[in-house]
Amino acid sequence: MSKKVLVTGCAGFIGYNFCLKMLKEGSSVYGVDNINDAYSVLLKQSRILNLKKHASFSFLNLDLSVVDNLDSLEKSFDVVLHLAARAGVRQSFINPEIYVRDNTLATANISNFVNKNSIKKLIIASTSSVYGDSGMKKVCEDKDELTSPPSVYAATKIAGENIAKTILDDSTTIISIPRFFTVYGPWGRPDMSILRFIHWIQSGETVRIYGNGEQKRAFTYIDDVVTALGKLTDQNIPGTFNIGSDNLNTLNEVINLIEKKLSKKAKIKYLDKAYRDVDLIMPDLDKAKNQLSWVPLTSLSEGISNTVEWCKEKIDLLNEIDYLYDGEKSSNEN
Ligand code: NAD
Ligand code: UGA
Repeated sequence: MSKKVLVTGCAGFIGYNFCLKMLKEGSSVYGVDNINDAYSVLLKQSRILNLKKHASFSFLNLDLSVVDNLDSLEKSFDVVLHLAARAGVRQSFINPEIYVRDNTLATANISNFVNKNSIKKLIIASTSSVYGDSGMKKVCEDKDELTSPPSVYAATKIAGENIAKTILDDSTTIISIPRFFTVYGPWGRPDMSILRFIHWIQSGETVRIYGNGEQKRAFTYIDDVVTALGKLTDQNIPGTFNIGSDNLNTLNEVINLIEKKLSKKAKIKYLDKAYRDVDLIMPDLDKAKNQLSWVPLTSLSEGISNTVEWCKEKIDLLNEIDYLYDGEKSSNEN
């Protein structure tokens, strides 16, 4: 059904892909982003250029952590999707203050905006990072939230969840909080493993693995994430939901799949494990299955194949992008 939606973080990976879905379905999309330089601004600008091809998309370049900036937003929306954030785990130890600003202050501001304007629904993106290492026990919503999150990123995201719930406690707004598990796919993030690995193998550069490559993730394909966000937008289902793949894979398996798809062998350099990196995060998906009727449909091999195809198509853009950020130099490099 056609809706009027506000999407924060629309120049980002997930925001961009979700906006495209909504626009194709006939919704009016108001996108907000401050196009920060957490990673390539060029990539974010390219996403916005694509969105602007749709007549029912409007864009505001605005920093949500500055409360007065929200006065320039329209006031009536069917639903607000708050995806804007600083999302890199490893970078969060380097610049904690930016994470506090963009993940907690901005979330408080958007929650107040929703409250003041009596908007019926708020969807806030959260992260599997709040759980820390799961070991072989699947992580469940509403039970396993840690009181000692493993990164500044995780700490600010769980704070954002709690601030939003507290601000809207007495309101009738429906709050849904999807917690995504390591998302990848076309238009992905160059600070994350899969896009980098494809780029490095494709261009013959050395793949940098932090640790021995045996750490596991429930790598989740972007289309499955967009479907989950669509269900939360269309239905009135409050609560927190794990949105992740039902398969765990190691980084070494990811690299094998990319090598096969590109018919090219990776040059690999194993570096120190990233600071406080988790070995394994395994989602319990029962709640998403039972309450949202959502299940992940895309296998890692299919998702990587699609992503590699997209990288080939966008090779000129991807060659212009930086893949490492300041401070991302492991101590065993010379
Ligand atoms: P992204 O970095 O690509 O997108 C976030 C966008 O928010 C960026 O374009 C950035 O410029 C914008 N932004 C940041 N601070 C802002 C501010 N103060 N005002 C306005 N805009 C601001 O990240 P993503 O991968 O698309 O992640 C989207 C959401 O999903 C985030 O909340 C993230 O924490 C969450 N998440 C992502 C993943 C993943 O694997 N990609 C997994 C779990 C959770
Ligand atoms: C990712 C996203 O960056 C977060 O925004 C998100 O919240 C989180 O997933 C989540 O699942 O909730 P992360 O798991 O660190 O965080 O994802 P990647 O950047 O893809 O890293 C995965 C693994 O690859 C980590 O062990 C990391 O150390 C490793 N890695 C990453 C490398 O070995 N080399 C690299 O160049 C990059």
